[in-house]
Amino acid sequence: MGIKQFIGYSLLVLASLVVSAQGSDFEFYKLSLIWPSSACYPLSNCTTPLPTFFTIHGLWPTFANDTAVPAYGPNNRCNANPVGPDAAVAKLTPIKDRLNERWPNLRAGVENSVFWRHEWQKHGICSDYYKDPLSYFNDTLNLATSTTFDPFKGDGQTVEVTSDGMGNG
Ligand SMILES: *[C@@H]1O[C@H](CO)[C@@H](O)[C@H](O)[C@H]1NC(C)=O
Ligand SMILES: *[C@@H]1O[C@H](CO)[C@@H](O)[C@H](O)[C@H]1NC(C)=O
Ligand SMILES: *[C@@H]1O[C@H](CO)[C@@H](O)[C@H](O)[C@H]1NC(C)=O
Repeated sequence: MGIKQFIGYSLLVLASLVVSAQGSDFEFYKLSLIWPSSACYPLSNCTTPLPTFFTIHGLWPTFANDTAVPAYGPNNRCNANPVGPDAAVAKLTPIKDRLNERWPNLRAGVENSVFWRHEWQKHGICSDYYKDPLSYFNDTLNLATSTTFDPFKGDGQTVEVTSDGMGNG
């Protein structure tokens, strides 16, 4: 499964907030959200109807210098023996309806679970949740749907809305 199957849209809106980080050497979690009508391009390749709310991109363990913890390569800072991607997605059944609504793949014709699998492999295994994908996804859902962290209603101290190019997620 190629990354291009779902990162055909640009990530135009990021909402960053500091949550917590325990036990690992990253500094904070970045909750990355997508504003679908800005991010999905071309429109003909997107699911219809496009959601009219911020959908979830992911929850990214991030170093103090604002770079995501790399899951692969020489700078791998991730955890040994994380739950594998297939097993991780299989555990999401209890929250699948909420995930489908809030964490969709905006690319038409590509399963939502392809996106979740990618996010787990790229970010989830680097988080404190590397043994517990259900909590990783559920906590992300809860954060993203919390009115406390609504990017339009944030208190300005914990929430920062920025733009970013594509391919970061
Ligand atoms: C949009 O979909 C068409 C048809 O499947 C494909 O050829 C094209 O590469 C897609 N565009 C992007 C930007 O992914
Ligand atoms: C950011 O910080 C991490 C961890 O200290 C380091 O490995 C990485 O090289 C830094 N990246 C940049 C672009 O400075
Ligand atoms: C997901 O989080 C909600 C809110 O905390 C909780 O009520 C629910 O039990 C959780 N679901 C699972 C499957 O853990």
